[in-house]
Amino acid sequence: MIKQYLLAPGPTPIPNEVALAMAETMIHHRTPQFNKIFFEVRDGLQEVFGTKNDVIVLASSGTGAMEAAVTNLFSPGEKVLVVNGGKFGERWLEIGKAFGLDPIDLKVEWGKPVAVEAIEQKFKEHRDIQAILVQASETSTTTWHPIEKIAKLTRNGPLLIVDGVTAVGVKKVPMDEWGVDAFVTGSQKAMMLPPGLGFVALSERAWARTAKAKLPRFYFNLNLERKNQQKGSGAFTPAVSLIFGLRASLQLMRKEGLDNVYARHERMARATRAAATALGMKLLAPESPSPAATGIWTPPGMNADHLLDFFRDKMLITFAEGQDQLRGKAIRIAHVGYMGAFDVVTAIAALEMGLRKFGAEVKFGQGVAAAEEVLMETLR
Ligand SMILES: Cc1ncc(COP(=O)(O)O)c(C=O)c1O
Repeated sequence: MIKQYLLAPGPTPIPNEVALAMAETMIHHRTPQFNKIFFEVRDGLQEVFGTKNDVIVLASSGTGAMEAAVTNLFSPGEKVLVVNGGKFGERWLEIGKAFGLDPIDLKVEWGKPVAVEAIEQKFKEHRDIQAILVQASETSTTTWHPIEKIAKLTRNGPLLIVDGVTAVGVKKVPMDEWGVDAFVTGSQKAMMLPPGLGFVALSERAWARTAKAKLPRFYFNLNLERKNQQKGSGAFTPAVSLIFGLRASLQLMRKEGLDNVYARHERMARATRAAATALGMKLLAPESPSPAATGIWTPPGMNADHLLDFFRDKMLITFAEGQDQLRGKAIRIAHVGYMGAFDVVTAIAALEMGLRKFGAEVKFGQGVAAAEEVLMETLR
């Protein structure tokens, strides 16, 4: 086998149009040529985020954008509520602690969406909560948290800070309409780019808060960035080639139509879940699954890590592992970004073969057929 398949939830495959755009000759970042490209990118990002406000582009991975949201919005000792239902919920906690906030840890069983009532209860118990920090899509457990419902609670209350790293560009989360106050993502998921860019969008009231927030910041100074980015560049040297690529990826998303992009993700996710279920496997997040990736428990006694090594080394297919308490027990199959129906078919065919190889009784084609039934929807 020679062909590699990258079917993990980031980094994700890169379309040729994007790869070629990134190979363009380097230009200086304080020129009208760069400004023009940057303005185009800013418009496209506003569409994807569903906001009229600035979407700030940072040279960092998604975690840098998370950190920027925290350091620009809060002062030392402020109380925030963190929805902690996986590795990335834990990351909000770690960032909050690192910067001297007082985070309340709202633990959520891995694979379950947060209960809105539990949030309401915490808001009642702690009247001084300044913000809630949550993932839209908790990639580690492949769970979707109910952001729209949470937004109803926070409209006139604490800020709603959402990690949208496997949500922005995957599923419609209209930031302004719902009332999300800070929405962050990274380049290597639905944006179909290599890792290296972080994005942060703030609501009006969040921008107002940045003026009062006292946490130290230098590189990730969103006001400084906004001032510069409104003029068509960045406060520091932007990741010029990634911006070229971003323009191309935004063009591709616009050409497909954002609603079609969202429908494609939703369909691939449904097909993957149908296939896993048809193969007798259990889903990690059956109640509220993310459209970006599907977590699946491996059969009892089958080491998921050995299975993943086999996929990667023998079949050249990279899926993702279960993290921490899921280690060795689950795999995650991604369907995010530059992926389509036949990536799902490939993933499921490989899954069937891998399961058989590791001793499970699998009827070849059973999972693939279930996926095809869903994927056929667009062709009828
Ligand atoms: C939901 C979520 N948040 C944050 C991150 C961290 O992003 P990065 O690895 O780009 O720093 C990831 C990465 O997979 C993620 O899926």
